Amino acid sequence: MKKIIVLYRSKTGFSKRYAEWIAEDLASECRPIKGIKLDDLKEYGLVIYGAGVYAGMIAGAGKIKNWMEKSPEKTWVVFATGATPPKAGYEELIFKTNFRKGENRPAHFYYFLSGINYEKMGFFNRILMKFFSGMSARKNGTTQSTSQISIDLANREYIKDLLGYVRLKAR
Ligand SMILES: Cc1cc2nc3c(=O)[nH]c(=O)nc-3n(C[C@H](O)[C@H](O)[C@H](O)COP(=O)(O)O)c2cc1C
Repeated sequence: MKKIIVLYRSKTGFSKRYAEWIAEDLASECRPIKGIKLDDLKEYGLVIYGAGVYAGMIAGAGKIKNWMEKSPEKTWVVFATGATPPKAGYEELIFKTNFRKGENRPAHFYYFLSGINYEKMGFFNRILMKFFSGMSARKNGTTQSTSQISIDLANREYIKDLLGYVRLKAR
């Protein structure tokens, strides 16, 4: 059996919550990636990494790609959380934008619907969101929307496929 660890990077708590659900169901360790070095992962044969999507980019994807290149003997599984519903090919778009052809790619990638948490967002991101929502409102010809209402659509059910895959791969 491969030893499993779940790592995450999470600004507003969604990816942390998914990581904790996954780790709980797999009875594995769960830690924030901050402060962890590749050397610290020697005993783990399967690494799951999860983070939020920010302007189309998975936070910390660069570090994971670098680690995947240095440690190809491990099984790498990546999940991203985002506010965009996972229809119309969004999962594939996020995968292809973040793991381009020729780059190191994880054994499996998952995208989980999360939501938006304005309360936990930093000041800079709140301003960015205001800017973007104003821009899209103008583009759509509506009045500028300044409402910033948090929404939580995270659901533990969404991790089922990942759990099945990881249980098989860890054998
Ligand atoms: C500045 C900013 C940009 C975002 N960009 C996207 C995006 O491009 N696509 C998306 O689906 N969600 C986007 N979101 C929503 C986040 O991906 C979502 O809330 C995510 O779960 C946050 O994860 P975290 O709290 O674990 O960091 C954005 C949120 C912020 C604050």
